[in-house]
Amino acid sequence: MNRLTDKTAIITGAAGGIGKGIAAMMAREGAAVVIGDIKDAQGEATAAELRAAGGRAVFQHCDVTSEDDCAALMQRAVAEFGALNVLVNNAGWFPRATLEDTTVDFWNQVLNVNLRSAFLCAKHAVPLMQKAGGGSVISIGSPNSIQAIPTLVAYGAAKGALINLTTTLANAYAPDRIRFNVVSPGWVLTETEIATQKSEGRTPEDMERISHTLRLGRYQTPEDTAYACVYLASDESSQVTGMFFSVDAGATTLLR
Ligand SMILES: NC(=O)c1ccc[n+]([C@@H]2O[C@H](COP(=O)([O-])OP(=O)(O)OC[C@H]3O[C@@H](n4cnc5c(N)ncnc54)[C@H](O)[C@@H]3O)[C@@H](O)[C@H]2O)c1
Repeated sequence: MNRLTDKTAIITGAAGGIGKGIAAMMAREGAAVVIGDIKDAQGEATAAELRAAGGRAVFQHCDVTSEDDCAALMQRAVAEFGALNVLVNNAGWFPRATLEDTTVDFWNQVLNVNLRSAFLCAKHAVPLMQKAGGGSVISIGSPNSIQAIPTLVAYGAAKGALINLTTTLANAYAPDRIRFNVVSPGWVLTETEIATQKSEGRTPEDMERISHTLRLGRYQTPEDTAYACVYLASDESSQVTGMFFSVDAGATTLLR
């Protein structure tokens, strides 16, 4: 408790899924939380839920593909809570498509949501973090940042590029004490991921069977990712920057 009492944190895409888990844990650790999402009703309900649990939280409509929305989201943190210390670029979209099925429009949409968003949010967060004397930017990557899956051509490219955006900005803003890291959540059965697996023909029984083949015996949860994000948001990680931090039970690194 209270590891983030002096922090204001923005989490994009936190109406539900992994982002909600991150927002909830950060609020429990004392951070003032700003949730940005395109799902207004769900985002408002999530903010209300965090307040009911004793946290400080507000919702702001934000489409992370819009520069104006990203700028307004960063400003909301300052207007509401006085400063911006932590940004979690979590909003994401992971539709499947091979090269043959990837149209230029689809490519642009996937890169806009998963990559351009992190650039836009960083661009508008950095001046505010400089004013605050430092900060922590955490981008949610994926095993697909480093793994090659033929049906994730655009998504894999976007999540892979997030790593270089992160190391480049980590290098550029270390003198300002603004840290940039990527957290990779592993395999988390959010509603969207369950729907994706179903659309690929996997039954709940298939998913149960697969869970027993995973290296540490289960799928990851939003909380697994949130623990890493709380650490990277806190001053405990003040010497950690430019890292790719996997919470995937070794799926991308251990030999099978
Ligand atoms: N679920 C997994 O197994 C998994 C694995 C690795 C990485 N990830 C990454 O974790 C993040 C969260 O994934 P999730 O499973 O919780 O997905 P999710 O679909 O449950 O949540 C994504 C959230 O982002 C929001 N969002 C989508 N487009 C947006 C936009 N343009 N502007 C603002 N908000 C937008 C959605 O409304 C939603 O609330 C994503 O970046 C995803 O790529 C997920």
